[in-house]
This record gives sequence, C-alpha cells and structure tokens, in this order.
Amino acid sequence: MENYRIAVVAGDGVGPEVIAEAVKVLKAVAAADGRFSFTFTEYPWGCEYYLKTGEMMPADGMELLGKNDAILLGAVGYPGVPDHISLRGLLLEIRHGFDQYINLRPVKLLKGAPCPLKDAGPGDIDMTFIRENSEGEYAGSGSWLYRDQPNEVVIQDGVFSRKGCERVIRYAYELARKEKKTLTSVSKANALNYSMVFWDQIFREVGEDYPDVETHSLLVDAAAMFMVKDPKRFQIVVTSNLFGDILTDLGAAISGGMGLAAGANLNPEKRFPSMFEPIHGSAPDIAGKGIADPLASIWTAGQLFDFFGYEEWGGRVVRAIEALLESKECLTPDLGGTASTSECGDAFLRKLLG
Ligand code: IPM
Ligand code: MN
Repeated sequence: MENYRIAVVAGDGVGPEVIAEAVKVLKAVAAADGRFSFTFTEYPWGCEYYLKTGEMMPADGMELLGKNDAILLGAVGYPGVPDHISLRGLLLEIRHGFDQYINLRPVKLLKGAPCPLKDAGPGDIDMTFIRENSEGEYAGSGSWLYRDQPNEVVIQDGVFSRKGCERVIRYAYELARKEKKTLTSVSKANALNYSMVFWDQIFREVGEDYPDVETHSLLVDAAAMFMVKDPKRFQIVVTSNLFGDILTDLGAAISGGMGLAAGANLNPEKRFPSMFEPIHGSAPDIAGKGIADPLASIWTAGQLFDFFGYEEWGGRVVRAIEALLESKECLTPDLGGTASTSECGDAFLRKLLG
C-alpha cells in the first residue's frame, strides 16, 4: 500500500480550523479506498511561533518539510506581525524553496454556489488558472536606497527567466491539450516592455509545439473586464505571479467566494513536496469561532488526490461539494448557512461517502 507523508502547517487564524477538516477528508478517503494511507506530521509554525522565537519556522524548517510528500497549509498572517515578514518567512519561502512553480487554481462556479454576475450560471464559469509561482513580480529582488532620506528610492524587480516562463507556459499547453480546452495567456506587453514582451514571445514559441491547441492572448486589464462580462471565453489561463494572484481573487468572487477558492502549489516533477492550501487568508475577524468555511480546504484535498494520480477522488470531492451546496444544508455563514466548520466538514463527508 502506498503511504504518503503529509506535513500539516495549519498556521494562523482560521487555518487550524479549516485544515482539520481537510485532514478528516484525507483520512476518510484513505480508509474508504484502501490503496493508500497518509501519515500526518504537524508543524506548529506561523505568527504565534514568530512572536515566541523571532522566526516563522525554525532554521531547519525546510529540511523537515522536505521529508514529506506534500504539505497542507492553512493560512499565514496575523495582526502583530507585518505581512511581508510572515509571508516571506513561511508561505513564499516554501513556494520558492521547493520550486513549486505551478499555482493551479480552479475557478469553477458549482451548482448551488452564489454568483454576483446576473447572467452567469454554472457551466459559464469553468476555468483553470495556471499562475507562475516561483519568480516574476514575487521574486523578492530589489533594493531600498537612502532609507528615510529625501532622496529615498525603492526598486522592486520583476524577474522573468526563460526557464521560468517556458516551464509554466508548457505546463499550461500540456493541460490544454490533455483536456482539449482553449488556452489564454494574460500579460501586459503594451506597458511592461521587457518582461511581458518576453512572456508573449515565449508563449508563441512554446505554442509552436502545440498546433492543436487554440490560443488567445489578452492584456490583464481586458482579461479582468472579460472575466466579469463574458467569463465563458476562458478555459485554461496562464499568467504571471502577480496577475494570477489578482485575477484569481476576482475568479473567487465570481465563483462562490473565497470560502470556496482552492489552490495547489505544485512541483510537477515531485523533486520537492507540493503544497495544498485554501487561498483565503487567516481571517482574524472570525478566527476561533468555528465558523470558517472548510470547503476551500476540502477542495484542495481533492487537488492533492489529483496530484497523486487518484483523479477519481479529485472529481468526487468536487461533485460532493456541489451536492452539499445544492442541498443548502450544513453550510457556514459565508454561504448563508448556520453550520459550524466541523458540521460542514461532516456533512461533506456524508455526501462524499454516502
Ligand atoms: C495568495 C495570497 C498570497 C499571494 C499572499 C498571502 C502573499 O494572496 O496565495 O494568493 O499573494 O500569493
Ligand atoms: Mn492572493
């Protein structure tokens, strides 16, 4: 029997509450399936840890995580620790350090999920975002000169390497080919005359190997407009780190809200562990109340099954979330219900396993 070692970094705020439900789902599916099992190791890192130790994770943190096959991450960030410190010290350190260069985010309006677009229904919004996740605007390169002086200057570099662009774009083409879908590249070459001109060039170059894939290229501002006005035109979307960050929040807003938005940070070659997380934050305003929506975390557990080759379970997880949404039972307050986080997780499991 295959055993997968899962590192659990529940993190801050509502992280532990929602991740507990994802763990519950992984355990229940492993028991029901019988072909695989999970061993969980919890790492108590995050902002509280930082306030005690001055670090978001210990010096050997990456080494410890690296012994696992995958990481489940709840949320990082809490008032009292500046965001750029908490995120650079944990979430972004893991994404970059483990070369999780694919950030795969489904933007899919399930039946029963709320949608603020008056003319859109399920079927009209069914996209997969492939966000570059290792460099670009998030490379962390730059300088801060003459701090606090009148001539103060800050420079934040966007880093777009040929290797970095090619691999994420190729991944997106492969997915589009496999799923027989169109591929849209989102960039901004009219204003960003180095990075995005380069991105567009690589999109065309790599595309020569995929004459069977129908492609589109959009500027990011137009893409934002079309996601609202005509979301049907998007299927697979590939874009840079920052643009993907922004557009997937918009994607969450049109497909049920942050409570349903999942994301997988993948190192496709499996040289390092991949990381699965809900894309909502730590939500300090509702932390500890037991009312956070666990469905994004549960959806990301479904992504974990996909990644390890158990796609039937990935599909079943999404369909069970949809069944739960349609039943309108046991939903958390963000979706108009009164259920607690764990009641929602239990109800999900009943839909999944009957
Ligand atoms: C996300 C988050 C992170 C990001 C933040 C917390 C650094 O917004 O996962 O989308 O920008 O990538
Ligand atoms: Mn984001």
